[in-house]
Amino acid sequence: MSNAPKNQEGQAIWSQDKEHFIHPYTDYATFKEEGSHVISEGSGNYLTDADGNRYLDTIAGLWCTNIGHGRTEMADAIAEQVMKMEYCNPFGHSTNEPGSVLAAKLAELAPGDLNHVFYTCGGSTANDAAIRLVHFYNNQRGKPNKKKIISRMDAYHGSTYIAANLTGIHGTKYSFDRIADEWVEHISPANMYRRPVGAEDLSEDAFCDFLVAEFENRILQLGPDNVAAFIAEPVMGAGGVLVAPKGYHRRMRDICTQYDMLYIADEVVTAFGRLGHWFASEAVYDCVPDIIVSAKGISSGYIPLGAAIISSKVYDVISQPQCEGGLLSMGFTYSGHPVACAAALKNIEIIEREKLNENVQALTPYFYELANGLMDISVVGDVRGSHFMMAIEFVTDRRDKVSFPAEADISNRIYQHCLARGMIIRPLGNQIVLSPPLTLTQDDVERLFTVLRESILAAWNDINEAGLLE
Ligand SMILES: Cc1ncc(COP(=O)(O)O)c(C=O)c1O
Repeated sequence: MSNAPKNQEGQAIWSQDKEHFIHPYTDYATFKEEGSHVISEGSGNYLTDADGNRYLDTIAGLWCTNIGHGRTEMADAIAEQVMKMEYCNPFGHSTNEPGSVLAAKLAELAPGDLNHVFYTCGGSTANDAAIRLVHFYNNQRGKPNKKKIISRMDAYHGSTYIAANLTGIHGTKYSFDRIADEWVEHISPANMYRRPVGAEDLSEDAFCDFLVAEFENRILQLGPDNVAAFIAEPVMGAGGVLVAPKGYHRRMRDICTQYDMLYIADEVVTAFGRLGHWFASEAVYDCVPDIIVSAKGISSGYIPLGAAIISSKVYDVISQPQCEGGLLSMGFTYSGHPVACAAALKNIEIIEREKLNENVQALTPYFYELANGLMDISVVGDVRGSHFMMAIEFVTDRRDKVSFPAEADISNRIYQHCLARGMIIRPLGNQIVLSPPLTLTQDDVERLFTVLRESILAAWNDINEAGLLE
């Protein structure tokens, strides 16, 4: 089915896009015919397409427009900074005002002694920078063999070469090279719904013991002197919104400390309110990492920005003068871009002033009450998540957790039915993901689950009518 708009102007954009724009994660089996759905405007919790159809945006762009769309005061803050000073050199001993003020603000908001900020242009580059800094840190400490990074299957850490190698989602690897096999290791995800063989029937506590033991065994196998860090999302996002068993992150942190490893929390999705706090690591999971990686919600997607926020312990080592003439030789032209940092400062001001963290906390019980209500539909296998991060997984048999066959295309069908009813969700394999703006209202929540229920039932009906399960 073509995504071409009905009006001529929209059609021209649709064609230009189809011919020239290489999109992230595109399915070329269908793209060349269907093209993209052209979105033209955003306001509050709603997006409008090129034909003027309005949609409740239940995924906040892509886990990022935390303060909602089309904020005039964001536009003003951005314009003001452009007019005042749009750019200057951030290398060496030259800086700009918003970059410096934001770094201090991030240090204030981040837990523990995470007081130093290395800026990038997004989440992948922030993860990449974090890993380079970890390696540099160990070289500086005279531990040049301590390089391996333990990540998790199903983790998503981005799309630069290193971030893609840290990523553990099987489907992202096909035909791409793995350049970091020597120093990237993957252990089991903390998936409570679909557990690894041998852990299927364990209690939550025993499953946590299982995962922690697997981690420690891997470190011992590799040799603690060779292992530099563990990287984990507080709640795994693109891997299916997986909430770890209670105590998991704290225990993984303790193991890192025991083996002189660093704990990197990839909070690209979870920070800036998505879990009802500035950062989830300590506030939700009682875990103070050595590095927090942030992007997305840091500027609510108004301007690209990423940051690796580093502990004083690490900073004290990496900021030692090296050999004569030696520099901390990494950074980007746009590190600490003044316009992006001004946008982030305004974004933080809005989240504070409008008490959006509190809004997430207050709406969470209702959000999950209505979501759990969907369990009366037989194909809803699991509703899971934390605060404004949720996945709903669909199965043909709830008891045996049997996934839908690929040709049933269940999540895309639900997506299409939601679109037809004025709502955007995110289809993801046999799941759909919800990650709404923090500005969601109680009425929006009601609408969301009314539309979702209708769409799930309509998709299920289509699949049955087409005889796709026979
Ligand atoms: C947890 C996590 N880390 C890193 C990234 C990569 O961020 P970016 O796409 O800004 O490079 C993402 C993107 O979705 C993410 O979800």
